[in-house]
Amino acid sequence: MNAELRQHAARYVELLQRHGKKDAWLPAGLARRLPVASPSSSPSTRASSTGREIRPASPTLARGPVPPSPAKPKNDFDLNSILKGVQGSKADKLSALREKTAACKICPHLAKSRTQVVFGIGNPEAKLMFVGEAPGAEEDKKGEPFVGLAGKLLTKMITAMELTREQVYIANVLKCRPDMPANTSGNRKPTRTEMDACLPYLRAQVAIIAPTVIVALGSTAVEGLFGPQKTTISRLRGTWMELDGVPVRPTFHPSYLLHNQDLALKRLVWTDLLAAMEKLSLPISEKQRGYFLKPAA
Ligand code: URA
Repeated sequence: MNAELRQHAARYVELLQRHGKKDAWLPAGLARRLPVASPSSSPSTRASSTGREIRPASPTLARGPVPPSPAKPKNDFDLNSILKGVQGSKADKLSALREKTAACKICPHLAKSRTQVVFGIGNPEAKLMFVGEAPGAEEDKKGEPFVGLAGKLLTKMITAMELTREQVYIANVLKCRPDMPANTSGNRKPTRTEMDACLPYLRAQVAIIAPTVIVALGSTAVEGLFGPQKTTISRLRGTWMELDGVPVRPTFHPSYLLHNQDLALKRLVWTDLLAAMEKLSLPISEKQRGYFLKPAA
């Protein structure tokens, strides 16, 4: 076995592990030669019908600049104690929560890597709330969710609903940008542990704002809100879920639309937004009902 190949394979497994994958598909023979955490993990290496082997990504493979999530970060969050003495409006309550969130160090690696906490933006009295995954580089810099390319598309979607960003509320499951290895660009999916640690802040935002409808943008947002799903976002969209009594409409993430310009896909997302508008009893024109049914002239 070529040592370089083995090194590449180990690196591949490590990357999968960092992205929360528990299994790695490797060519037959190679998996057996990778280091494992303990002898007890060996029996779970299985040969598949395709002649390949699956080996669990081993913690001993974790190395490099991105630390895995903290063991079990505890968020002993208590909205009532934060709001104790805070009189008045939803805006006041959100400010108190924003302050608490800004000081969060529950995930020490994210507290270290972030420029700032990206709490959320919009109208504290909003009836419609959008929930995304996590801030990207631009959001981290600006301190506002959805300001990059995907954000521009989200703004267009909101405008198509005849609403403005100022009328709705926009937040993410994760309030910190998921850290990346030094000198690398791009984004990584938040880990389950990070999402679990951060979710109480989002639920507190929902409790304060009390929107009529939440639109969950993408599979990671759905996973963050409801835990791992047995099905795909393609199957979940078009349905209603519920978070703390608030109807949630899952749909595709705007960045997915940026990578797939298919008209039918845009229509699916638009159908979800129409459903949200109906739930909100917003007026819908005939023109709006027909968006993305045929290519714009
Ligand atoms: N994608 C998200 O899910 N959230 C942002 O804030 C930006 C991009």
